[in-house]
Amino acid sequence: MQNIPLLRLNDGHKIPAIGYGTYPLDNPQAEKAVREALDCGYRLFDTAANYGNESGVGTGLISYDVGRGDIFVTTKLRGRDQGYDSTLRAFDASLQRLKMSYIDLYLIHWPLPMKDQYVESWKALVQLQKDGRVRSIGVSNFLPEHIERIIDATGVTPAVNQIELHVDFAQKESLALHKKLGILTEAWSPLGRGSVLENPVVGRIAQHHNRTPAQILLRWIIQVGAVPLPKSAHPERMKKNIEVFDFELSDTDMRDLDALDGNNRTGPDPATCTEE
Ligand SMILES: NC(=O)c1ccc[n+]([C@@H]2O[C@H](COP(=O)([O-])OP(=O)(O)OC[C@H]3O[C@@H](n4cnc5c(N)ncnc54)[C@H](OP(=O)(O)O)[C@@H]3O)[C@@H](O)[C@H]2O)c1
Repeated sequence: MQNIPLLRLNDGHKIPAIGYGTYPLDNPQAEKAVREALDCGYRLFDTAANYGNESGVGTGLISYDVGRGDIFVTTKLRGRDQGYDSTLRAFDASLQRLKMSYIDLYLIHWPLPMKDQYVESWKALVQLQKDGRVRSIGVSNFLPEHIERIIDATGVTPAVNQIELHVDFAQKESLALHKKLGILTEAWSPLGRGSVLENPVVGRIAQHHNRTPAQILLRWIIQVGAVPLPKSAHPERMKKNIEVFDFELSDTDMRDLDALDGNNRTGPDPATCTEE
Protein backbone atom coordinates (compact mmCIF):
# COMPACT_ATOMS: atom_id res chain seq x y z
CA MET A 1 0.00 0.00 0.00
CA GLN A 2 1.22 3.50 -0.87
CA ASN A 3 2.49 5.74 1.90
CA ILE A 4 0.95 9.11 1.12
CA PRO A 5 2.96 12.19 2.15
CA LEU A 6 1.29 14.79 4.37
CA LEU A 7 1.36 18.53 3.63
CA ARG A 8 0.96 21.29 6.21
CA LEU A 9 -1.89 23.79 5.78
CA ASN A 10 -1.56 27.47 6.77
CA ASP A 11 -3.47 26.73 10.02
CA GLY A 12 -0.99 24.01 11.08
CA HIS A 13 -3.17 20.99 10.25
CA LYS A 14 -1.87 18.30 7.92
CA ILE A 15 -3.54 17.06 4.74
CA PRO A 16 -2.68 14.02 2.58
CA ALA A 17 -1.01 14.92 -0.73
CA ILE A 18 -3.69 13.12 -2.80
CA GLY A 19 -7.36 12.44 -2.17
CA TYR A 20 -10.32 10.43 -3.40
CA GLY A 21 -13.14 12.30 -5.20
CA THR A 22 -16.66 10.93 -4.71
CA TYR A 23 -18.73 12.79 -7.31
CA PRO A 24 -21.05 11.51 -8.91
CA LEU A 25 -21.37 8.36 -6.77
CA ASP A 26 -24.69 7.84 -5.00
CA ASN A 27 -24.88 6.70 -1.35
CA PRO A 28 -24.53 2.91 -1.86
CA GLN A 29 -21.83 3.38 -4.53
CA ALA A 30 -19.96 5.87 -2.33
CA GLU A 31 -20.07 3.56 0.71
CA LYS A 32 -18.49 0.74 -1.32
CA ALA A 33 -16.02 2.96 -3.18
CA VAL A 34 -14.79 4.65 0.00
CA ARG A 35 -13.98 1.27 1.56
CA GLU A 36 -12.15 0.20 -1.60
CA ALA A 37 -10.26 3.50 -1.62
CA LEU A 38 -9.27 2.95 2.03
CA ASP A 39 -7.99 -0.51 1.04
CA CYS A 40 -5.83 1.17 -1.62
CA GLY A 41 -4.40 3.63 0.91
CA TYR A 42 -6.44 6.80 0.33
CA ARG A 43 -6.92 8.80 3.52
CA LEU A 44 -8.36 12.08 2.15
CA PHE A 45 -12.01 11.94 1.04
CA ASP A 46 -13.83 14.66 -0.84
CA THR A 47 -17.63 14.93 -0.70
CA ALA A 48 -20.20 17.76 -0.72
CA ALA A 49 -23.77 18.34 0.42
CA ASN A 50 -24.68 18.76 -3.24
CA TYR A 51 -23.32 15.32 -4.22
CA GLY A 52 -26.08 13.71 -2.13
CA ASN A 53 -23.62 11.06 -0.92
CA GLU A 54 -22.35 12.33 2.46
CA SER A 55 -24.32 9.60 4.19
CA GLY A 56 -22.73 6.82 2.09
CA VAL A 57 -19.28 8.35 2.46
CA GLY A 58 -19.74 8.54 6.24
CA THR A 59 -21.01 4.96 6.51
CA GLY A 60 -18.10 3.68 4.42
CA LEU A 61 -15.57 5.53 6.56
CA ILE A 62 -16.93 4.72 10.01
CA SER A 63 -17.44 1.04 9.18
CA TYR A 64 -13.78 0.63 8.24
CA ASP A 65 -11.08 -0.23 10.73
CA VAL A 66 -9.26 3.11 10.64
CA GLY A 67 -8.87 5.74 13.38
CA ARG A 68 -10.82 8.99 12.88
CA GLY A 69 -7.53 10.87 13.27
CA ASP A 70 -6.01 8.89 10.41
CA ILE A 71 -8.54 10.05 7.82
CA PHE A 72 -9.21 13.52 6.46
CA VAL A 73 -12.81 14.33 5.48
CA THR A 74 -13.83 17.29 3.35
CA THR A 75 -17.37 18.43 2.64
CA LYS A 76 -18.85 21.58 1.12
CA LEU A 77 -21.58 24.14 1.67
CA ARG A 78 -24.08 24.18 -1.19
CA GLY A 79 -25.34 27.37 -2.83
CA ARG A 80 -28.86 27.44 -1.43
CA ASP A 81 -27.46 27.24 2.12
CA GLN A 82 -25.22 30.30 1.81
CA GLY A 83 -25.73 33.06 4.42
CA TYR A 84 -24.56 33.16 8.06
CA ASP A 85 -27.28 31.26 9.96
CA SER A 86 -28.12 28.91 7.11
CA THR A 87 -24.43 27.95 6.82
CA LEU A 88 -24.35 26.99 10.51
CA ARG A 89 -27.48 24.86 10.04
CA ALA A 90 -26.13 23.27 6.84
CA PHE A 91 -22.89 22.37 8.60
CA ASP A 92 -24.82 20.55 11.36
CA ALA A 93 -26.81 18.63 8.73
CA SER A 94 -23.62 17.57 6.90
CA LEU A 95 -22.04 16.44 10.15
CA GLN A 96 -25.12 14.38 10.93
CA ARG A 97 -25.17 12.74 7.50
CA LEU A 98 -21.46 11.95 7.80
CA LYS A 99 -22.06 10.61 11.34
CA MET A 100 -18.97 12.42 12.62
CA SER A 101 -18.25 14.79 15.49
CA TYR A 102 -16.04 17.09 13.39
CA ILE A 103 -15.04 17.71 9.79
CA ASP A 104 -11.42 18.15 8.78
CA LEU A 105 -12.08 20.67 6.02
CA TYR A 106 -15.27 22.61 5.22
CA LEU A 107 -15.42 24.52 1.95
CA ILE A 108 -17.81 27.03 0.36
CA HIS A 109 -18.59 25.07 -2.81
CA TRP A 110 -19.02 28.01 -5.27
CA PRO A 111 -18.74 31.77 -4.71
CA LEU A 112 -22.05 32.57 -6.53
CA PRO A 113 -21.16 36.26 -6.86
CA MET A 114 -24.66 37.14 -8.09
CA LYS A 115 -26.09 35.98 -4.73
CA ASP A 116 -23.41 37.96 -2.91
CA GLN A 117 -23.59 35.90 0.29
CA TYR A 118 -20.15 34.35 0.27
CA VAL A 119 -18.69 36.87 2.76
CA GLU A 120 -21.44 36.08 5.31
CA SER A 121 -20.96 32.37 4.67
CA TRP A 122 -17.21 32.74 5.19
CA LYS A 123 -17.85 34.49 8.53
CA ALA A 124 -19.90 31.44 9.59
CA LEU A 125 -17.03 29.11 8.63
CA VAL A 126 -14.64 31.25 10.69
CA GLN A 127 -17.00 30.86 13.68
CA LEU A 128 -17.29 27.08 13.18
CA GLN A 129 -13.52 26.83 13.24
CA LYS A 130 -13.31 28.99 16.40
CA ASP A 131 -15.88 26.67 18.01
CA GLY A 132 -13.68 23.66 17.19
CA ARG A 133 -16.34 22.00 15.02
CA VAL A 134 -14.17 22.00 11.91
CA ARG A 135 -10.40 21.76 11.81
CA SER A 136 -9.72 23.72 8.62
CA ILE A 137 -11.81 26.03 6.48
CA GLY A 138 -11.51 26.96 2.84
CA VAL A 139 -13.25 27.72 -0.40
CA SER A 140 -13.80 26.16 -3.78
CA ASN A 141 -13.99 27.74 -7.21
CA PHE A 142 -13.10 31.16 -5.76
CA LEU A 143 -11.54 33.60 -8.21
CA PRO A 144 -8.78 35.93 -6.98
CA GLU A 145 -11.27 38.79 -6.37
CA HIS A 146 -13.46 36.57 -4.16
CA ILE A 147 -10.48 35.42 -2.11
CA GLU A 148 -9.24 38.95 -1.61
CA ARG A 149 -12.70 40.10 -0.50
CA ILE A 150 -13.18 37.45 2.22
CA ILE A 151 -9.69 38.08 3.59
CA ASP A 152 -10.36 41.84 3.68
CA ALA A 153 -13.68 41.26 5.47
CA THR A 154 -12.43 38.83 8.15
CA GLY A 155 -8.63 38.82 8.24
CA VAL A 156 -8.82 35.04 7.81
CA THR A 157 -7.10 33.44 4.81
CA PRO A 158 -8.65 30.20 3.55
CA ALA A 159 -6.47 27.12 4.07
CA VAL A 160 -7.54 25.68 0.70
CA ASN A 161 -9.06 26.70 -2.62
CA GLN A 162 -10.35 23.68 -4.54
CA ILE A 163 -10.46 24.52 -8.24
CA GLU A 164 -10.67 22.82 -11.61
CA LEU A 165 -7.07 22.07 -12.55
CA HIS A 166 -5.56 19.78 -15.18
CA VAL A 167 -3.02 20.05 -18.00
CA ASP A 168 -5.61 21.56 -20.36
CA PHE A 169 -6.69 24.14 -17.75
CA ALA A 170 -3.53 25.03 -15.89
CA GLN A 171 -4.81 28.00 -13.83
CA LYS A 172 -1.45 29.80 -13.59
CA GLU A 173 -2.93 33.01 -12.13
CA SER A 174 -4.78 31.22 -9.32
CA LEU A 175 -1.79 29.00 -8.50
CA ALA A 176 0.47 32.07 -8.21
CA LEU A 177 -2.00 33.90 -5.95
CA HIS A 178 -2.49 30.83 -3.73
CA LYS A 179 1.26 30.44 -3.39
CA LYS A 180 1.67 34.11 -2.44
CA LEU A 181 -1.10 33.89 0.20
CA GLY A 182 -0.13 30.43 1.57
CA ILE A 183 -3.34 28.77 0.32
CA LEU A 184 -3.12 25.11 -0.67
CA THR A 185 -4.61 24.34 -4.09
CA GLU A 186 -6.74 21.22 -4.48
CA ALA A 187 -7.34 20.06 -8.06
CA TRP A 188 -10.78 18.87 -9.07
CA SER A 189 -11.15 16.98 -12.37
CA PRO A 190 -7.37 16.35 -12.31
CA LEU A 191 -7.84 13.96 -15.26
CA GLY A 192 -10.00 16.51 -17.08
CA ARG A 193 -12.87 14.03 -16.53
CA GLY A 194 -10.98 11.70 -18.85
CA SER A 195 -10.62 14.27 -21.65
CA VAL A 196 -6.80 14.48 -21.48
CA LEU A 197 -6.03 10.79 -20.94
CA GLU A 198 -5.68 10.13 -24.67
CA ASN A 199 -3.40 13.06 -25.40
CA PRO A 200 -0.35 11.79 -27.38
CA VAL A 201 2.14 13.92 -25.39
CA VAL A 202 0.80 12.42 -22.16
CA GLY A 203 0.98 8.97 -23.77
CA ARG A 204 4.61 9.44 -24.83
CA ILE A 205 5.67 10.59 -21.34
CA ALA A 206 3.71 7.71 -19.77
CA GLN A 207 5.49 5.21 -21.99
CA HIS A 208 8.88 6.72 -21.16
CA HIS A 209 8.26 6.37 -17.40
CA ASN A 210 6.44 3.05 -17.75
CA ARG A 211 3.38 4.60 -16.07
CA THR A 212 -0.28 5.08 -17.03
CA PRO A 213 -1.43 8.38 -18.61
CA ALA A 214 -3.51 9.05 -15.46
CA GLN A 215 -0.39 8.70 -13.29
CA ILE A 216 1.43 11.27 -15.45
CA LEU A 217 -1.49 13.74 -15.20
CA LEU A 218 -1.68 13.32 -11.42
CA ARG A 219 2.08 13.64 -10.98
CA TRP A 220 1.98 16.89 -13.00
CA ILE A 221 -0.61 18.24 -10.51
CA ILE A 222 1.64 17.27 -7.59
CA GLN A 223 4.68 18.91 -9.17
CA VAL A 224 2.80 22.18 -9.82
CA GLY A 225 2.18 22.16 -6.06
CA ALA A 226 -1.46 21.02 -5.82
CA VAL A 227 -3.35 18.11 -4.24
CA PRO A 228 -5.22 16.04 -6.88
CA LEU A 229 -8.64 14.51 -6.12
CA PRO A 230 -9.11 11.83 -8.78
CA LYS A 231 -12.36 9.87 -8.87
CA SER A 232 -12.58 6.31 -10.10
CA ALA A 233 -15.20 3.69 -9.38
CA HIS A 234 -12.69 0.94 -10.32
CA PRO A 235 -10.37 -0.40 -7.60
CA GLU A 236 -7.59 -1.17 -10.11
CA ARG A 237 -7.59 2.46 -11.30
CA MET A 238 -7.94 3.81 -7.74
CA LYS A 239 -4.84 1.86 -6.78
CA LYS A 240 -2.77 3.00 -9.76
CA ASN A 241 -3.93 6.61 -9.32
CA ILE A 242 -2.21 6.93 -5.93
CA GLU A 243 1.03 5.27 -7.01
CA VAL A 244 2.51 8.63 -7.94
CA PHE A 245 5.03 9.29 -5.20
CA ASP A 246 7.83 7.00 -6.40
CA PHE A 247 8.78 8.74 -9.64
CA GLU A 248 9.40 12.28 -10.86
CA LEU A 249 8.70 14.15 -14.07
CA SER A 250 11.76 15.91 -15.51
CA ASP A 251 11.87 19.63 -16.28
CA THR A 252 11.42 18.73 -19.97
CA ASP A 253 8.38 16.54 -19.18
CA MET A 254 6.90 19.40 -17.14
CA ARG A 255 7.52 21.90 -19.96
CA ASP A 256 5.87 19.57 -22.50
CA LEU A 257 2.86 19.08 -20.21
CA ASP A 258 2.64 22.81 -19.40
CA ALA A 259 2.42 23.43 -23.15
CA LEU A 260 -0.87 21.47 -23.30
CA ASP A 261 -2.73 24.27 -21.52
CA GLY A 262 -5.57 25.29 -23.82
CA ASN A 263 -7.47 27.21 -21.12
CA ASN A 264 -10.25 24.64 -21.57
CA ARG A 265 -12.65 24.10 -18.68
CA THR A 266 -14.67 20.92 -18.32
CA GLY A 267 -16.94 22.49 -15.68
CA PRO A 268 -18.78 25.77 -15.02
CA ASP A 269 -17.18 29.22 -14.85
CA PRO A 270 -17.18 30.42 -11.19
CA ALA A 271 -18.00 33.97 -12.32
CA THR A 272 -21.38 32.85 -13.67
CA CYS A 273 -22.10 29.46 -12.06
CA THR A 274 -25.50 29.33 -10.32
CA GLU A 275 -25.11 26.08 -8.33
CA GLU A 276 -28.03 25.58 -5.99
N1 LIG B 1 -15.34 21.65 -6.06
C1 LIG B 1 -16.00 21.41 -7.17
O1 LIG B 1 -16.75 22.25 -7.67
C2 LIG B 1 -15.82 20.10 -7.85
C3 LIG B 1 -16.30 19.93 -9.16
C4 LIG B 1 -16.12 18.67 -9.76
C5 LIG B 1 -15.47 17.66 -9.06
N2 LIG B 1 -15.03 17.86 -7.78
C6 LIG B 1 -14.33 16.78 -7.03
O2 LIG B 1 -13.22 16.32 -7.79
C7 LIG B 1 -13.34 14.90 -7.99
C8 LIG B 1 -12.71 14.48 -9.29
O3 LIG B 1 -13.23 15.19 -10.39
P1 LIG B 1 -14.03 14.48 -11.58
O4 LIG B 1 -14.68 13.23 -11.08
O5 LIG B 1 -14.87 15.53 -12.20
O6 LIG B 1 -12.92 14.18 -12.66
P2 LIG B 1 -11.60 13.28 -12.80
O7 LIG B 1 -11.17 12.68 -11.52
O8 LIG B 1 -10.67 14.14 -13.58
O9 LIG B 1 -12.08 12.16 -13.82
C9 LIG B 1 -12.93 11.13 -13.44
C10 LIG B 1 -13.16 10.26 -14.68
O10 LIG B 1 -11.92 9.65 -15.07
C11 LIG B 1 -12.07 8.24 -15.06
N3 LIG B 1 -10.79 7.67 -14.54
C12 LIG B 1 -10.31 7.77 -13.27
N4 LIG B 1 -9.12 7.17 -13.17
C13 LIG B 1 -8.83 6.68 -14.40
C14 LIG B 1 -7.73 5.95 -14.93
N5 LIG B 1 -6.70 5.62 -14.16
N6 LIG B 1 -7.76 5.62 -16.25
C15 LIG B 1 -8.83 5.95 -17.03
N7 LIG B 1 -9.89 6.65 -16.58
C16 LIG B 1 -9.88 7.00 -15.28
C17 LIG B 1 -13.25 7.93 -14.18
O11 LIG B 1 -13.93 6.77 -14.62
P3 LIG B 1 -14.21 5.48 -13.66
O12 LIG B 1 -14.88 5.97 -12.42
O13 LIG B 1 -15.09 4.66 -14.54
O14 LIG B 1 -12.86 4.86 -13.42
C18 LIG B 1 -14.13 9.16 -14.41
O15 LIG B 1 -14.90 8.99 -15.58
C19 LIG B 1 -14.85 14.66 -7.90
O16 LIG B 1 -15.13 13.30 -7.67
C20 LIG B 1 -15.22 15.58 -6.77
O17 LIG B 1 -14.91 14.99 -5.51
C21 LIG B 1 -15.19 19.06 -7.19
